[in-house]
Amino acid sequence: MKRILITGAASGLGLALAKKYASEGWSVCIADIQAEEGIKIASGLSQEYGKDCFFHHLDITSDAQWQELVGIISERWQGLDALVNNAGVAASGDIDTFSMKDFHWAVNINLMGAVKGCHVCVPLLKESKGLLINVASMAGLLHMGGMSAYNASKAGMVALSEGLLSELDPYGVKVSVVCPTFFQSNLAKSMRSDNPDAAKIAARLHAATGITAESIAATVFEDSRKGKHYILGGTRLSDRTIWRLKRYLPALYLSMMKSNARIQLADKNSSFSSSSGKRGIFERVLRFIRARLLG
Ligand SMILES: NC(=O)c1ccc[n+]([C@@H]2O[C@H](COP(=O)([O-])OP(=O)(O)OC[C@H]3O[C@@H](n4cnc5c(N)ncnc54)[C@H](O)[C@@H]3O)[C@@H](O)[C@H]2O)c1
Repeated sequence: MKRILITGAASGLGLALAKKYASEGWSVCIADIQAEEGIKIASGLSQEYGKDCFFHHLDITSDAQWQELVGIISERWQGLDALVNNAGVAASGDIDTFSMKDFHWAVNINLMGAVKGCHVCVPLLKESKGLLINVASMAGLLHMGGMSAYNASKAGMVALSEGLLSELDPYGVKVSVVCPTFFQSNLAKSMRSDNPDAAKIAARLHAATGITAESIAATVFEDSRKGKHYILGGTRLSDRTIWRLKRYLPALYLSMMKSNARIQLADKNSSFSSSSGKRGIFERVLRFIRARLLG
């Protein structure tokens, strides 16, 4: 029996992963704060695939709730083969106007929630020589202005995962980090921002993308068992090209990001809009790239 714990599995990518692993014969623990949805999903998966799929209420920011869940899993399954730290929330805002309370909230869930999961589950993964899968974002690799809280939380997730890759390799634990751009999910509902329209804009971008959570889940399933570290399912060629540009030509990448920030400011500032017709092709391309990058 293969056993997987997925956080944030009552919606979006976590739900798609729960379905994928159950359909491949795994037993799945759906850990989320959304009990009603989670219970329905778990019983549906158990009935459909005949495996031990169950829901457990977990707020990933709570050390005590993580300890309790690991105790339950150890007793019920006598071990764990994979942990997916997937639960997360959305945040956007400028550094001087986004509230510090919300900055802490985003980092506490997106980064510290996963750190806590690793802390309590890694002993079980060492025993099983299992898989550790952390869901970050393209924002963990490429950092747009106006998104510091989300960027920092997801870049932290990438750093955490890279460090654990070498730390856990001697124990036979494979570590992957998933870095998608926008895909269809309910993430915008959790959005905290200094801009009252941000959640609406994000929801539109999520709905408009052609990328589904199911397609990313299928890539995660295949790539993680092969031991691929960076999983870029749900990214476009333009995203991967810019990531390469950052690594190979960092000065050019940084000047593009600065030009991009000027465009963003010009969009916000009506007095600057009269000069928008004078924008060069470079800036127009940047505008296009920016639309592709967020996520
Ligand atoms: N949707 C995108 O475009 C996108 C892009 C890049 C990365 N991501 C990342 O993918 C992951 C999954 O998000 P999604 O897009 O499927 O969003 P979603 O909102 O559909 O699902 C997130 C789930 O996490 C749960 N959750 C939130 N806070 C929690 C907490 N404290 N404890 C336990 N569960 C909690 C929610 O209840 C929800 O079920 C997130 O880490 C997100 O940052 C999403």
